[in-house]
Amino acid sequence: MAKTTQHNPDWINHAYSESLKKIHSLNKKIGASFPHVCLDGHYNCEDASFWTSGFWGGLLWLAYRETKEEALRETAERIEQQLNVPLQQFYNIHHDVGFMYLPTAVINYRLTGNAESRRTGLIAASHLAGRFNLSGQFIRAWTDSVDPNSTGWAIIDCLMNLPLLFWASKEEKDPRFKHIAVAHADTVLRQFVREDWTVPHIVSFDPETGGKIENLGGQGLGPDSSWARGQAWAIYGFAIAARETGKPEYLTAAKNIAGYFLSHLPEDKVPYWDFRTADKDKFVRDSTAAACTASGLLELGKLLEDETEAAFYYENALAILQGLYDNYADFSDGQDAILTKGTVSYPVNRHVNVPIIYGDYYFVEALVKLKGQQGLF
Ligand code: GLY
Repeated sequence: MAKTTQHNPDWINHAYSESLKKIHSLNKKIGASFPHVCLDGHYNCEDASFWTSGFWGGLLWLAYRETKEEALRETAERIEQQLNVPLQQFYNIHHDVGFMYLPTAVINYRLTGNAESRRTGLIAASHLAGRFNLSGQFIRAWTDSVDPNSTGWAIIDCLMNLPLLFWASKEEKDPRFKHIAVAHADTVLRQFVREDWTVPHIVSFDPETGGKIENLGGQGLGPDSSWARGQAWAIYGFAIAARETGKPEYLTAAKNIAGYFLSHLPEDKVPYWDFRTADKDKFVRDSTAAACTASGLLELGKLLEDETEAAFYYENALAILQGLYDNYADFSDGQDAILTKGTVSYPVNRHVNVPIIYGDYYFVEALVKLKGQQGLF
C-alpha cells in the first residue's frame, strides 16, 4: 500500500536530503549527547535518564540506515553505552524506556545483531513490564522523582512505549510482555478514549483498587481538553498496537482519533498546542504533534486493505508534512534543529514554540517511510 520514492514530489526529496545533511553536521557538532530543545539556534543537553534521550540516537540510526556513514553509527553506539547507566541505576527510570531504548539499543540489535544491545532492550522491556498495575490493568507512567504522588497515574504517551513489549515478546517467544501491552492498551480504550474520539493526557487510578479516579490535564489545557501531542501519541500508538495484534478495536480508535485531529487542524496543518485552546493562545503551535501524526498516519495507511481509505491517510500525512516543510522547516546552518515551533508544556510555560528533538525525529522518520523504509519501531 505504501507509495515510494518514484512518486515523490521534489519537496520530499529536498526535505529528505537536507535533513540528512543536518544530521551529519549536527553529529560533528554535538556527538554523543542528549539534545532536547534548541534554544537560540543550539540544542541543549539533558541527562541520559530524561525521557527524550533516545531520539538523537534514533535520528543517527535513521540516517545511518540511509547513508551507511560509519561516523553516525559510532556516535549512536556511544549514546547507547551512556543509556546503560540510568537503566542500571534503576531509581529514576520510568515508563519511557520505550522512547529511550527502541530507537537506540533495539534498532542497533535489529540492524547489526549486536548481542549486548539485545540484552539492553530486554532489560528495558522487563522494567516496563514491571510497572504494570495488576488491579488497574495499566502501566504506571512516572516515578515520584519525575512527579510526586503519581503512583496511580497512566498517561496517553505510554502507548508509544508498548512496541518495546511487543518486540520483547517476539524476541523471547514469550507472550507475557505482549499480554501486558494489550491489557494496557485495552485500559486506554476504556478509560481514556472519549465519545468524540479525543483523549486526556493523564488518567489517575486508585493504585490499590485500580478504580479510575479522574482525568487530569497534564500538559494539555485541562481534564476535558484535547492536548495536540496526546492525540498524536494516541493515533500512532493505536496504529502500532493494531499492527502488532490485529485487534480491530485499536484500528478503529486510531482511525477515529486521526479523524478528529485532521478535521480540527488549522489551514497550515500544524495544530495549536491544544485543540480546545482559547483564541488568545492560538499563537502556540506544536509542530511535534504534526510530525508524529504524519508518521503515524503512514503506519495506519499501511494496515488498511481498502485502497481509498489507505490513500486518505497517506494524502493527509503528505499534506501535514508539506505544511511542516513549507512553514516550519529550517534547513539553514543558523539552527541545529530542523523543525521550528514545538511546544513542551504551555500550562507551565516550558519551551513554547521552540524546536524539539522528537519533532525532528518523527519528521525524518516520516520522510524515510516515504522513501520506502520502515520506521524504527
Ligand atoms: N511524553 C511527554 C511529552 O509528550 O511531552
